[in-house]
Amino acid sequence: MKRFHVTTFGCQMNEHDSERMKGMLVSLGYDEVAERDDADLILFNTCSIRENADNRFISHLGEARRLKTENPERVVGVGGCWAQSVKDEVFRRFPFVDVAFGPGQIHRLAEFLNSDSLSAQGYFEFEEFSGDLPSHRARPFQGWLQISQGCNCACSYCIVPSTRGREQSRRPADLIEEARRLAADGVREVTLLGQNVNSYGRDLPPAERIRFSDLLGMVNEVDGIDRIRYMSPHPKDMREDVIAAHVELSALCEHIHLPLQSGSSQILKAMRRTYSRERYMDRVAMIRELLPDCAITTDIIVGFPGESDDDFACTLEVAEEVGYDGAFTFMFSPRRGTLAAEMEDQVPHPVKKERMAALLEVIQRRALERSQRFIGRSMEVLVEGPSRNDPTRIRGRIRHSKAVNFEGAAEPGQMVEVEIDSVTSQSLTGTQRLLSAIRA
Ligand code: SAH
Ligand code: SF4
Ligand code: F3S
Repeated sequence: MKRFHVTTFGCQMNEHDSERMKGMLVSLGYDEVAERDDADLILFNTCSIRENADNRFISHLGEARRLKTENPERVVGVGGCWAQSVKDEVFRRFPFVDVAFGPGQIHRLAEFLNSDSLSAQGYFEFEEFSGDLPSHRARPFQGWLQISQGCNCACSYCIVPSTRGREQSRRPADLIEEARRLAADGVREVTLLGQNVNSYGRDLPPAERIRFSDLLGMVNEVDGIDRIRYMSPHPKDMREDVIAAHVELSALCEHIHLPLQSGSSQILKAMRRTYSRERYMDRVAMIRELLPDCAITTDIIVGFPGESDDDFACTLEVAEEVGYDGAFTFMFSPRRGTLAAEMEDQVPHPVKKERMAALLEVIQRRALERSQRFIGRSMEVLVEGPSRNDPTRIRGRIRHSKAVNFEGAAEPGQMVEVEIDSVTSQSLTGTQRLLSAIRA
């Protein structure tokens, strides 16, 4: 029996790819081990979105080199976006790497492992999605459904279009079949994945072309799926039909991630986001009108090249006005091959740090205010497991995507009712309502 170890970096796409990689390896007769030292096959699924993602991974590679020197029979493989962005250079810079492959090219890993010569192979062609791989899910009751791959946007800071290629939507019939299979296998919460999920379908042949909101409706019909989430939509494609779907579809959760990036129309233009502050605020107004209780979260970059104090003040204003339930905030990081990396007026690091601190103050204060609306309410919680900080408590998530830590008795995968009594900007605390295991 051969043993493997996978380390995953980056976004949910990579998490999902790793689950599929594990599923494939198990079906090839490999066994997963917890320690890298015990593995014959050492894999890394990499990310390159920001410089610190690169660095984190490169520090791990040192250990892989040591393990390979100890036992040259070991196979070291590197997949994902970093691998794609450096391509064949991998083998020059890191000669102990045996196989490298781009994102989503897991079937190529199988091809490599089954081939006769296990020496320096690279697989970097963009191909169709290989959907029929078994997935080794981290939690049996939650599943990913990758609806498209690649990205047709041209955000000037972003490396993803060059690592994941052009956008390709998967066929609706394949997706529904996969959703049914997930449900039959015990999945109650499914997350639709894509770089820009709400542009789904535009590249499909006319006979099969449907909108993202139609796809949501079809997944909603699948028996056993109690919760639907999606990641990430693009504000430019966030039309009324998608927002209305949240009102109409019982399984679609009360959470919309609407990546702002910047509150300054001028910076948005330099970022090539193709919407202005006004258009973004229009979308927010529509969400607030149709779905007053819906959680809105976002991604924001501070210190984009040329960002002035006034531009940054606009970002603070938008954060204040929207009142996000949560936000991922990033300092701009120049990425190889992107337009923004070459721009003049790069913002000095200390200024980025200062802006980040100012932004976090607004984000956290507003998120805490938003959390207050849950106090005293009884919320449906999907149980995930024991609390991270206090194992006597249970942890789960409400439909609005906030984490909840609570006292009670429930098993992972159950839906329970929890009465919320206190909140922070990040999470909620409460007590399970007795005999409340609804649809357990
Ligand atoms: N396709 C998704 C996710 C992109 S990556 C989307 O468009 O929403 C996730 C986030 O990383 C982005 O939303 C952006 O905020 C951030 N990001 C991407 N490239 C970056 C860079 N070069 N520097 C800093 N943050 C970046
Ligand atoms: Fe990157 Fe923009 Fe595509 Fe998101 S939409 S992956 S930020 S290019
Ligand atoms: Fe990273 Fe690639 Fe995802 S760069 S964030 S793993 S799309």
